[in-house]
Amino acid sequence: MTGELVLLTGGTGFLGYTILVDLLKHGYRVRVPARSDDKIARVRAASSIVALNPPATQLMFVIVPDMAARGAYDEAMQGVDFIIHVAAPLPTDHLEAQIEDAFVTACVQGNLSILRSAQNKGKMVRRIVMTSSTVAIAHADFYSDAAATAQREAGEEVIRGPDTRVSVSAPPYKSQLHAYCAAKTASLDAAESFVREQTPRFDLISIMPSLIFGKDELATDTDSTRMLMYRLLPGTGSGSDGQDNSSAEQGEIAAVGNAVLCTDVARAHVRALDPDVKGNQSFVLNSDVKWEDTVLIAKKHFPHAFESGLFRPGGPKWTTVPLRWDTAKVRDVLGIDLSTYDVMAKQVVGEYLEKLGSKGR
Ligand SMILES: NC(=O)c1ccc[n+]([C@@H]2O[C@H](COP(=O)([O-])OP(=O)(O)OC[C@H]3O[C@@H](n4cnc5c(N)ncnc54)[C@H](OP(=O)(O)O)[C@@H]3O)[C@@H](O)[C@H]2O)c1
Repeated sequence: MTGELVLLTGGTGFLGYTILVDLLKHGYRVRVPARSDDKIARVRAASSIVALNPPATQLMFVIVPDMAARGAYDEAMQGVDFIIHVAAPLPTDHLEAQIEDAFVTACVQGNLSILRSAQNKGKMVRRIVMTSSTVAIAHADFYSDAAATAQREAGEEVIRGPDTRVSVSAPPYKSQLHAYCAAKTASLDAAESFVREQTPRFDLISIMPSLIFGKDELATDTDSTRMLMYRLLPGTGSGSDGQDNSSAEQGEIAAVGNAVLCTDVARAHVRALDPDVKGNQSFVLNSDVKWEDTVLIAKKHFPHAFESGLFRPGGPKWTTVPLRWDTAKVRDVLGIDLSTYDVMAKQVVGEYLEKLGSKGR
């Protein structure tokens, strides 16, 4: 039991919750800022938290309604040894605000707010681990126009790594995805500039995962946005509305072949707290993926789901666009061997079948 206190933002979301479980299993005490009591109740009721049954002295919550407000985290800083800052808005179907404010302003101000609170009120804070993203250090067009990426990358072996940086793309943004990518670039830049210019007592580690796959314990139904299988497995779109929303009829789809397992990303955040890991560095987390393998992997692990007609063979023709990343430090420094796509796909399809109440294997 380390007993050190970690302030963990984003603990009510997919990745943050997985980090919370990892922290508790490794003996940390955790304080989770949340936006509402409902979100807190959802975390408390999730299966791993129920199973771990942490005492009130190990798991604490605090309401922080607006992370971007000045001093938002001041009170939450008391006695904190480490901060893991995960919270950030992700693209959604239900967006009402201006996309520049909803993404770029929220992300940058969220980062600055926690850095300032740590500097002013977090007298014991030794390290801040921030969740960045590969989209922070690659141009948004790689993701929104993957066919163009394929052309651009053709014939040259471009490898990007944790020290790659790009400039922030200027508004207006064509889509939520473009605004989200700009927000991740701008917030990484804001955090690194803060540490460079203010030389605080604490250091900064940035974790840059690619697309995160894995079990989502907070999801209540098969319509979870984490059920990315919708786009990959024909038949899986027939969710609660009975409609087949899968992309089986969409013809050819090109997508960057990058993904990473959620529990690996969580492990990296927690490992990054160790004093044997030097501060002020970044880690890229990615496994190369061939999307066209999804049906084969699902058939291997869940043959009955095909025999019963729940999943259909065939489907869209996927073109996987390679975008290569240097991830060596994850193994060499953090000691983590990143899981393969077989493991990720098995976990997500398995969870889908579990939630559907199907005996898929
Ligand atoms: N998912 C991916 O594939 C992926 C890949 C690379 C990096 N990332 C990064 O990983 C982090 C977590 O992503 P996720 O997939 O876990 O997303 P998620 O499930 O949507 O969780 C986001 C978390 O951030 C909180 N949040 C969002 N906007 C906020 C705001 N304005 N103020 C306060 N809290 C806010 C949410 O709180 P509520 O519960 O109250 O909404 C939630 O706890 C983000 O930094 C994201 O950029 C994600």
